[in-house]
Amino acid sequence: MFSLLMQVLIWDVETQPNRHAVLGASTSRPDLILTGHKDNAEFALAMSPTEPFVLSGGKDRYVVLWSIQDHISTLAADPGSAKSPGSAGTNNKQSSKAAGGNDKTGDSPSIEPRGVYLGHGDTVEDVTFCPSSAQEFCSVGDDSCLILWDARTGSSPAIKVEKAHHADLHCVDWNPHDVNLILTGSADNTVRMFDRRNLTSGGVGSPVHTFEGHNAAVLCVQWSPDKSSVFGSSAEDGILNIWDHEKIGRKIETVGSKVPNSPPGLFFRHAGHRDKVVDFHWNSSDPWTIVSVSDDGESTGGGGTLQIWRMIDLIYRPEEEVLAELDKFKSHILSCTS
Ligand SMILES: *[C@@H]1O[C@H](CO)[C@@H](O)[C@H](O)[C@H]1NC(C)=O
Ligand SMILES: *[C@@H]1O[C@H](CO)[C@@H](O)[C@H](O)[C@H]1NC(C)=O
Repeated sequence: MFSLLMQVLIWDVETQPNRHAVLGASTSRPDLILTGHKDNAEFALAMSPTEPFVLSGGKDRYVVLWSIQDHISTLAADPGSAKSPGSAGTNNKQSSKAAGGNDKTGDSPSIEPRGVYLGHGDTVEDVTFCPSSAQEFCSVGDDSCLILWDARTGSSPAIKVEKAHHADLHCVDWNPHDVNLILTGSADNTVRMFDRRNLTSGGVGSPVHTFEGHNAAVLCVQWSPDKSSVFGSSAEDGILNIWDHEKIGRKIETVGSKVPNSPPGLFFRHAGHRDKVVDFHWNSSDPWTIVSVSDDGESTGGGGTLQIWRMIDLIYRPEEEVLAELDKFKSHILSCTS
């Protein structure tokens, strides 16, 4: 029995235009199936920015690594072998579907893992690659651990950080500009920043800083692709916060710290969602634009909301400059808001 939730499916958008939408058809055929999980793998998924490697984590506590190259090499060595080497349980269904359509290639091919990494004691909630190496990656889970792995040295943890937070960890992100900095978000409502050279103290997690600006579980953290000290965090409280860790301890913060009694480092708060902000991404070609999605199931009776929004550049310029500029528009702003 195969559950689709145990497989990772790869789609090639270049080949998909040939697959017309068919009314009433329930599924479309993926280009590649990655097998290896023994239980649901719903939350943790990442692709390496440097190599065609895919990483996933699941309820089976596994962190699983695949190389799409394994599939490409098989095709190059034997073009006739593009058929599925596995997935026996789904063969009949897949073939009969293919026979009815105009797709002659048959089943989706599948590949097995390059490695399965064991070290978590509970569900793996998120995984991420080191931005400079597809052999190094890290994972977080419901066991409150942050684990760093190195595929070159084996399948047990390279470094295991116990009690990285006071509750389940939901998300992790590795700084693309400074590979020593790793962010984690947790059900303890905080975001923590770790330095990988100094992850633990006395065996438990010793973050460089703990960011406290949410009043519910943190669901997603993402470093800015543009500025190495800036990142965002979104949470079940419906808030998406933007932080700059370099502003911690500085006297002058930007005008964005309009947030009353804002915690150190917080300089912008997006409160436009009505419910849990489950995921977001920075637009890499437009540095201050973010796309965020909320799960509005309970507040609107179903569905979700996707928002694309941009922080005005005012929040990132020196305070005096911004105040001088705002002064010119004072009457306009007052009439708009009254
Ligand atoms: C590592 O972290 C500990 C605990 O936060 C701190 O006392 C120590 O100075 C740090 N060491 C370095 C080399 O940063
Ligand atoms: C990302 O930024 C680029 C450049 O400004 C723009 O063309 C594109 O539409 C943006 N994408 C989204 C999803 O906002």
